[in-house]
Amino acid sequence: MNKALADSVRQKYVEQFGEEPLIVRSPGRVNIIGEHTDYNEGFVLPAAIDKAIYVGIGKSEDGKTIHLFSGEFNEAYQTTLDNIHPTERGWPNYVLGVVDQLKKRGYSIKGFSMVVDGDVPIGAGLSSSAAVECAVAFALSQFFNLNIGKRDLDFIAQKAEHEFAGVLCGIMDQFDSVFGKKDHVIKLDCRSIEYEYVPLKLEGYKILLLNTNVKHSLASSEYNKRRQECEQGVAWVKEHHPDVNSLRDVTKQMLDEHVKPKDDLVYRRCKYVVEENERLITGCDDLKTGRLEALGQKMFQTHDGLSKDYSVSCKELDYLVDAVRSEEAVLGARMMGGGFGGCTINLVKENAIDELIQKLGPAYKQAMGKEITAYVAQIEDGTSLC
Ligand code: GLA
Repeated sequence: MNKALADSVRQKYVEQFGEEPLIVRSPGRVNIIGEHTDYNEGFVLPAAIDKAIYVGIGKSEDGKTIHLFSGEFNEAYQTTLDNIHPTERGWPNYVLGVVDQLKKRGYSIKGFSMVVDGDVPIGAGLSSSAAVECAVAFALSQFFNLNIGKRDLDFIAQKAEHEFAGVLCGIMDQFDSVFGKKDHVIKLDCRSIEYEYVPLKLEGYKILLLNTNVKHSLASSEYNKRRQECEQGVAWVKEHHPDVNSLRDVTKQMLDEHVKPKDDLVYRRCKYVVEENERLITGCDDLKTGRLEALGQKMFQTHDGLSKDYSVSCKELDYLVDAVRSEEAVLGARMMGGGFGGCTINLVKENAIDELIQKLGPAYKQAMGKEITAYVAQIEDGTSLC
């Protein structure tokens, strides 16, 4: 937990609303391998990180009004419980979307006051939006004694993203924020929602995140478009294999026979997903058995698939991955999250991190005209009270 941030949220809450709040924390995430597989009923391998959203919650004086304050935007927003709809202001939607879901599911809540803040960089592919949604869902559950189970918190948070942010995301980010476990990754089967904690033993290596500082906007429809393209591929296969319901059930041979002749673009999208699921299964075994070099190679392959076949990379992400390919201290690297900007995830030898950053920073600046921001991610527990 970042005590300074929790204290600052408490202080902001007291300044705004005059009382002591309940404080909740919910983390951002990394994903070792398994990108754009979650909404295709595949596997993912995420972990919760030491960057998180903090929410302070308390009552509202009339029991009907919702008072929100964002530390990040230094901005207030106010509405009432019977007037919940998406707003053009952006940030309140991640709170209001959760409130809307709770209402739709018949949970009994009243007005409340809330401060939202944190250190998960926005638009960096570290899932700041899921962290807000999960923090808000857990805070409301705690404050109004709703006793919502962890899986339901995930589904509520995911649905909030669908309906109030307009991104038809999978379950990875919300699941990981809630279920994260210190020093472990989660191998999650996004079809059955069964999961396994796998110890993250990196033996002298660390997870280095390099933020391109290109802010992505997943809502900019490309994410939803990929989802549709995958669904189209499944529909074409299903005409010949009625048992097939998602890309999880599809083989490359099926794609060659039934999708390739119809549309090359849809074929490449689907092929990437089928290959990525295979990579995740063997990559997870690599992690379990300490074959870190093999895992690293798969991360590079994932990047190539995301960049060339799935087309969700950008020149800055490609630059940062290409720049480390021949570095001896780097086992593997790839773009992470939805894409179009944000971070690369790199497995880097601990004692070579500083030197690598010193080398990459100026080169990136010269080539792309932007700064990189580097973070070494520590793996932490999921959503909790502070
Ligand atoms: C975003 C979505 C996730 C997942 C990733 C890509 O983070 O929220 O559900 O699809 O992109 O793997």
